[in-house]
Amino acid sequence: MKIKVGVVFGGESVEHEVSIISAIQAMKNINEEKYEVVPIYIAKDQTWYTGNMLKEIDIYRDLDLLKRFAKKVTLVKSENRFFLMKTNGVFRKEVTDIDVILPIVHGHGVEDGSLQGFLETLKIPYVGSNVLGSALGQDKVVMKQVMKDEGIPCVDYVWFYDTEYQLNTDEITKKIKKLGYPVVVKPATLGSSVGISVVKHEEDLDEAINDAISYDSKIIVEKAVENLVEVNASVIGNYESQEVSVLEEVMGVDEFLSYRDKYLGGGKKSGSKGMASTNRIVPARLDDKMTSEVQEMAKKVFRVLNLNGVCRIDFLIDKKSKKLYVNEPNTIPGSLSFYLWDKCDKPYCDLLDEIISLGLRRYKAESKKVRSFETNILSNYGGTKGLKGSKKI
Ligand SMILES: Nc1ncnc2c1ncn2[C@@H]1O[C@H](COP(=O)(O)OP(=O)(O)O)[C@@H](O)[C@H]1O
Ligand SMILES: [Mg+2]
Repeated sequence: MKIKVGVVFGGESVEHEVSIISAIQAMKNINEEKYEVVPIYIAKDQTWYTGNMLKEIDIYRDLDLLKRFAKKVTLVKSENRFFLMKTNGVFRKEVTDIDVILPIVHGHGVEDGSLQGFLETLKIPYVGSNVLGSALGQDKVVMKQVMKDEGIPCVDYVWFYDTEYQLNTDEITKKIKKLGYPVVVKPATLGSSVGISVVKHEEDLDEAINDAISYDSKIIVEKAVENLVEVNASVIGNYESQEVSVLEEVMGVDEFLSYRDKYLGGGKKSGSKGMASTNRIVPARLDDKMTSEVQEMAKKVFRVLNLNGVCRIDFLIDKKSKKLYVNEPNTIPGSLSFYLWDKCDKPYCDLLDEIISLGLRRYKAESKKVRSFETNILSNYGGTKGLKGSKKI
C-alpha cells in the first residue's frame, strides 16, 4: 500500500506564494510508486482545502474559482487513524486517510512551529523540524543567542520590542551607534527579506526601524558584514547524523539579497523574470579549507538547533578578513533546496523519500518515550467533597 503524504502549504505569511511554488515542485517530484500525494492548501484566511486540482499552479491565479471547486477540509484524528474531513455542505464526510504530513510552508503562523505544534497535538507523523527547532529557526534573536552560547560565530546585534523603541528611542539609537554603521535592520521573525533595510547613516535609522515595526513587534539590528560573500549549505538529517550539500554562492543586484532579487528577478534595475532568479554559483568560489569550515559549521548549527529533515544554513563571509558568520537557518528552505542536492547526485525524488523516512523514524522513536502514566491519580478523587474542593481552585 502506498504511503499517503499530506503536503501542507500556503498559510497567512508574506511568503504564501513562495510556499505554493515550493509545494508544487515537490508534489511533481515525489515517487508516485511509493507515495500518494494529497495536497492540503491553507488559504490566507486559514481555511484548509484539498483536491487534485491543487497540484497545478494555474488554479492559484483565480482564488475565487479555487475556493468554489476545492473541498474545504479539516484534519481529524479518530482511534489511530488520521483523515481529512470535508467541512462544507450539510454532511461531514471523510475525504481521505493521511499517513504523514509534509509541511512545505514558509514563515509566520506555519513554519515557525505553529503548524508543527498543531500536528504534535494530534500526534500525527510529520516531516521536518519539531516545534522547538522550527521556532528557533524563525526568531533571528533567539537563534543567535543559542548559537553564540554554543560557540557558533554570529554578527553583533542589538534587539528590542516595538514599544521599547517608541519609549526609549534615544537610548536604543545610542546602542545601535556603538555597533557602528552600516547596520542591517530586520523584523526578527520574518523571511524572504521582507521589512529589511541596510542603514548607512543614523538619520535613516528611524524610518528603517519603523518599517520593520510595521511587520513585527520584535526587531533586530545587526552590524553589516562588509566585503560580503553569501554562501548557503543544505543539510539533511536529524540530531544523530547529518549530510551536507555542496555550497552555493548567492548574489543580488540590490544592496542586499532582497525580496525582488529572490523572487522577481534582478533587483530594482530590471523587470520581473519570475521566481527563483537569484544569481547562484554552485559550487561557491571558496577554497577547500573555507568550504569544509562552512560545511562543518552547517552541520553543527543543524544539531545545536535540533533541526530535522532538509534545511538550508546561510552564511555571511567578509572576504577581506575571511571571517565567517552564520546568518540564519531556513528550516523549510525555498524549493527545499533540491537544486543543491541535484548537484550531489541526489535527485529530488530521493531527497523527498529521505526526509519523509526521517519524519517517520522520529515519530517511531518518540512514540517509545514515556509521555504519560497509565495510572489515573484522579480515580480516587471524587464525590461531592472532591467537587466542592475543586471550586476553590
Ligand atoms: N549582518 C548582515 N550584513 C550584511 N548583509 C546582511 C546581513 N544580514 C542580512 N544581510 C542581507 O540581507 C539578506 C536577508 O537577510 P536575512 O537575515 O537572511 O533575512 P531573511 O530571513 O528575510 O532571508 C541576506 O541574504 C543578506 O543579503
Ligand atoms: Mg535569509
